[in-house]
Amino acid sequence: MAIAADYLGFTIISLDEVTSTNDLAREYAKNNCQAGFVITAKRQTKGRGRRGRSWHSESGGLYFSILLKPDLPPAQVSLLTLTAGAAVVEVLREYYQLPAELKWPNDVLVTGKKVAGILCEGLFHNTDSFAVIVGIGVNTNQPLAGLPEEIQAAAASLSTLTGVPVDNDLLLRQILARFHNCYQTVLSGCGCLILDRVKQYTSMLGKIVNVTTETTVFTAKACDINEHGALIVERQDGSREAIWAADVSIRLMKGED
Ligand code: BTN
Repeated sequence: MAIAADYLGFTIISLDEVTSTNDLAREYAKNNCQAGFVITAKRQTKGRGRRGRSWHSESGGLYFSILLKPDLPPAQVSLLTLTAGAAVVEVLREYYQLPAELKWPNDVLVTGKKVAGILCEGLFHNTDSFAVIVGIGVNTNQPLAGLPEEIQAAAASLSTLTGVPVDNDLLLRQILARFHNCYQTVLSGCGCLILDRVKQYTSMLGKIVNVTTETTVFTAKACDINEHGALIVERQDGSREAIWAADVSIRLMKGED
C-alpha cells in the first residue's frame, strides 16, 4: 500500500516493494508529475546501479528516488550525482559520526567500504521538458551476508558501523533536507560552492588511481574535479584528460588492503 507524506516541498510515496524506485519515478515523470516526488520502497526486485549493474535491495536498506525538473544548463545537471553524494556524506558525518567520503563519481565509502550508491538518470518526457531521477541506495540494516562475495568484501552497513539499528525514515528525511539545501545552491548558480565541498570529501584527489573505462584500463594521478563534475587525471607523460564515466579506485601499495 502506498503512503504519501509531505516534507520540505517533497511528496514522499512509501511502498513495500517495487522493481526499482528509479523506474517508478521515470513513470511518474512520463505522466507529467511535478518535480519533488520521492519514491521509497522497503525492497526492490530489480534495483539498478551504474553501468548496468544490479543493486541488491533486501528489506532493511534505504532505497529512494527523487524526481527533479532542474532548470539548469546540461553542464550543471551533470553535477547532481556529486551533489547527492555530498549530501549523503554530510549527513553520515554530522548525524552518525561516520568518517564518510566520496568515491568519484557516485559512491559513498566509510573506511574504504561502500555504504551508499547514487544513480542519476535523465529523460526528456516531451519535447521541451527534462526530468532527472536521483536514485540513492544506502546500506543501513539489511544483512550483507547473502550478497555475492565480491560485493560483501567491498560493502558495509551503517548499523554494523555504528552498532545501532538505523531509522530509515529519519535517515531519508535527513538526506532529503541536506540534498534540498545543496540543490537550491546549484539552482541559484552557485554550484561551485557544492563542488568545493565535493572535492573536500573526495579522498582520491592527489592520489594514484586505477581507471577502468568501457574501453581501457590505465593508471594516472587524480588531480581535480572540473566544474562539470568530470574527474581530471594526469597520465605518466604529464598529459591531462577529463574522465566522464569510469570506475576509479585508489591504487593500493603492496601490504595495504
Ligand atoms: C551504484 O552504486 O551503482 C548506484 C546504486 C543506486 C541504487 C539506488 S537504490 C534506489 C534507486 N533505485 C535503483 O534501482 N537504483 C537506485
